[in-house]
Amino acid sequence: MTTPLNSPAQRWLDTPLLSVEHLTMRFGGIVAVDDLSFQVGRGDITALIGPNGAGKTTVFNCLTGFYKPSEGRIVMRHGPGPHDAALAAAHSGGLRHSKDGDSGVFLLERMPDFEIPRQAGVARTFQNIRLFGGMTVLENLLVAQHNGLMVASGYTLGGILGLPGYRRAEKKAIDRAVYWLEQTALLDRADDPAGDLSYGAQRRLEIARAMCTGPKLLCLDEPAAGLNPRESAELNRLIRTIRDEHGTSVLLIEHDMGVVMEISDHVVVLDYGVKIADGSAETVRNDPKVIAAYLGVEDEAEAEDIVEGVAS
Ligand SMILES: Nc1ncnc2c1ncn2[C@@H]1O[C@H](COP(=O)(O)OP(=O)(O)OP(=O)(O)O)[C@@H](O)[C@H]1O
Ligand SMILES: [Mg+2]
Repeated sequence: MTTPLNSPAQRWLDTPLLSVEHLTMRFGGIVAVDDLSFQVGRGDITALIGPNGAGKTTVFNCLTGFYKPSEGRIVMRHGPGPHDAALAAAHSGGLRHSKDGDSGVFLLERMPDFEIPRQAGVARTFQNIRLFGGMTVLENLLVAQHNGLMVASGYTLGGILGLPGYRRAEKKAIDRAVYWLEQTALLDRADDPAGDLSYGAQRRLEIARAMCTGPKLLCLDEPAAGLNPRESAELNRLIRTIRDEHGTSVLLIEHDMGVVMEISDHVVVLDYGVKIADGSAETVRNDPKVIAAYLGVEDEAEAEDIVEGVAS
């Protein structure tokens, strides 16, 4: 096998955190995602890009259990492994996951949506912001940690009222919320209704909410949409901090090519539900198929002509 030219660190091949394998999602006659396979590298910022209607949000909906895929497998890998043995065990046993200490595999297509953030460590934000607008900013972050608090209560009222374990968990939840409010520059808005925040601030609050669940993979659906250039630059910094200081890998849907090229280690391109390119930002940027898809031209030759015309 030859080594690809652009392989300083192809973590998506060497140490994948997530593998999407032959994913297909049909809605009646529409094939929104068609036999899609790609991997997300551990510690990478990966961009999933493509024209409108390419199937990007549908992929997120499959990853996070909102949709059950028509076909295919989605595997999250935790810890150092060995993952192959765990995967075989999960498969042969018809299990949703197979864990051994810190290592484990999670078959997301088998898991109900509420288990995916808590167990598999996958959190997301939405293309159309979904916050509790009437609740305060802080309350939105505490609701996100509801699961952990209920576990600490032993699922009883007595637990909530009396157990020191619950009070400790509650303090931890508040500390975590305050930490993410600081990181997203929202601490001074903690007691305001989320619905009163500006659009950019609501987008940051959604990210803070997802991070309060302590994810291994954060999926962001068009986080820069509607942001001004200053907010967009702040968002890039926040995404980098999340990856660099918290070890959370990021999968990002984004239309803004400036954002994609600046922060992504790896780019996967979809068009009409089919993967048309997969590689480093540099390789994908110069791929005629990608340029053709973005310019909406019929074929690659025409795209090459246009690109050459622009370059000359
Ligand atoms: N629940 C659904 N029922 C029927 N069709 C759907 C459903 N969800 C998505 N689709 C269709 O699947 C295709 C892909 O949609 P999707 O929202 O995943 O695209 P996208 O790449 O996120 O686009 P955009 O950039 O505009 O957000 C579209 O043709 C869409 O109409
Ligand atoms: Mg979308």
